[in-house]
Amino acid sequence: MSNAHHTELPVNKMPEMRVVPMPRDANMHGDVFGGWIMSQVDLAGALCATRRANGRVVTVAVNSFVFKHPVFVGDLLSIYTEIVKVGNTSVTVNVECYAERNRLQTEIVKVTEATLTYVATGENRLPRPLPPETKS
Ligand SMILES: CC(C)(COP(=O)(O)OP(=O)(O)OC[C@H]1O[C@@H](n2cnc3c(N)ncnc32)[C@H](O)[C@@H]1OP(=O)(O)O)[C@@H](O)C(=O)NCCC(=O)NCCS
Repeated sequence: MSNAHHTELPVNKMPEMRVVPMPRDANMHGDVFGGWIMSQVDLAGALCATRRANGRVVTVAVNSFVFKHPVFVGDLLSIYTEIVKVGNTSVTVNVECYAERNRLQTEIVKVTEATLTYVATGENRLPRPLPPETKS
């Protein structure tokens, strides 16, 4: 493979989300705007945390966020999530984002890696204890 950064998609894991950035998601240089990528990563992490919390969550912290490689308009992004820590009310999620260049599996690059913490909240928007873990 010509690109040294080429990798494979994680095996035996379903992506939390798959999405294709459009021209409206580009920055002034024509590549995909980092803020758009951050919002997709936050959304994917929140979906994962919502399942664990069995209800609403809010993002309390972006602990780390690394843009390893650029994302281009028309790439297919696959975003994978994994819970790495569970507290009393909080869930910390590792989020990895892979780009299939031009929506083709011939070139796959891990573009972004982040860790975010979510807090389960009630209707009053205050923290609520997480429910016991259920086996799925
Ligand atoms: C999230 C929020 C409800 C937490 O309220 P709070 O009174 O600070 O709650 P607490 O201090 O009891 O902390 C709650 C949990 O968050 C964790 N937490 C708080 N600040 C944190 C930080 N900077 N990083 C990581 N975890 C943090 C605590 O460790 C605790 O986890 P635990 O219960 O598992 O031990 C409140 O800060 C908030 O509403 N923030 C705004 C959220 C928001 O608008 N997000 C953007 C849109 S989704």
